[in-house]
Amino acid sequence: MNKQVFSPDVFEGKVAFVTGGGTGITGGVARALAEHGAKVAITSRKMENLEPMKAAIEESGSECHAVAADVRHFEAVEMAISETVERFGKIDIVVNGAAGNFLCWASELSPNGFGTVVDIDTKGTFNVCRAAFDQLKENSGQILNISATLHYLGTPMQIHVSAAKAGVDAITRNLAVEWGRYGIRVNGIAPGPIEDTEGMKRLLPPQLKESLTKKIPLKRFGRIADIEQAALFICSPAAAYISGVTLVVDGGHWLTGTGLS
Ligand code: COA
Repeated sequence: MNKQVFSPDVFEGKVAFVTGGGTGITGGVARALAEHGAKVAITSRKMENLEPMKAAIEESGSECHAVAADVRHFEAVEMAISETVERFGKIDIVVNGAAGNFLCWASELSPNGFGTVVDIDTKGTFNVCRAAFDQLKENSGQILNISATLHYLGTPMQIHVSAAKAGVDAITRNLAVEWGRYGIRVNGIAPGPIEDTEGMKRLLPPQLKESLTKKIPLKRFGRIADIEQAALFICSPAAAYISGVTLVVDGGHWLTGTGLS
């Protein structure tokens, strides 16, 4: 994206806490928030997945705190949140991007495989929202949950992720209703097929990319920058009256009913 759509200081004075913020879509969102004035804390299970993004953000002149935490474990999330508050003084924006995914037929998926993805995506999202609540309440903050479109129809080999993301969308709506009274906005983004991401590498054999591209109404894969721009909008004051929404950013793909298989 060549043109700067949003003011570079639109998030000046704001602190963002971004899970899965080292790589892929949420890494892009973390970097974009930092490039627009926010101080960002990024988390992932492994520190090595965070170091390159931390270095890139700091190189561009912004502040970044990297903290390893598995979102499945509430105590670890609480520690990461308090480390962030210790370093930056507060949290205004939470982005839930930590997710697990793999292709597996429902008939072959173990209960633990199903539960693992639900634990990361759904319970992890709840854990982070819950642990950050006091901060969000104090700062009239906001939550952005990264979802998917897989569960809008039926997507083969994705029962675990579809169930998990349906839960994430429920969290978005429920918290928007419960926490609106504190000035907390809660929204989501449902990305379609986004190129150059771990998810796409895992889910889409390269030989299928061309045929899938033809099925996308806008005739191209999404880019991480497309999600970054949507995230900047939702987190910005331009979206001050938007809450409880999951914005689909997929070039119109899900409407065609053509899934990943
Ligand atoms: N197919 C089927 N089952 C799988 C699987 C696969 N490819 N990968 C993991 N599982 C199952 C395991 O068999 C296990 O179940 P079991 O105990 O009944 O055998 C269960 O899931 C947990 O697996 P484990 O490897 O112990 O879990 P983990 O916590 O280390 O990591 C993931 C699981 C899903 C998070 C891992 O695959 C991962 O790291 N993915 C990368 C993150 C990612 O995909 N990000 C992009 C999101 S779009």
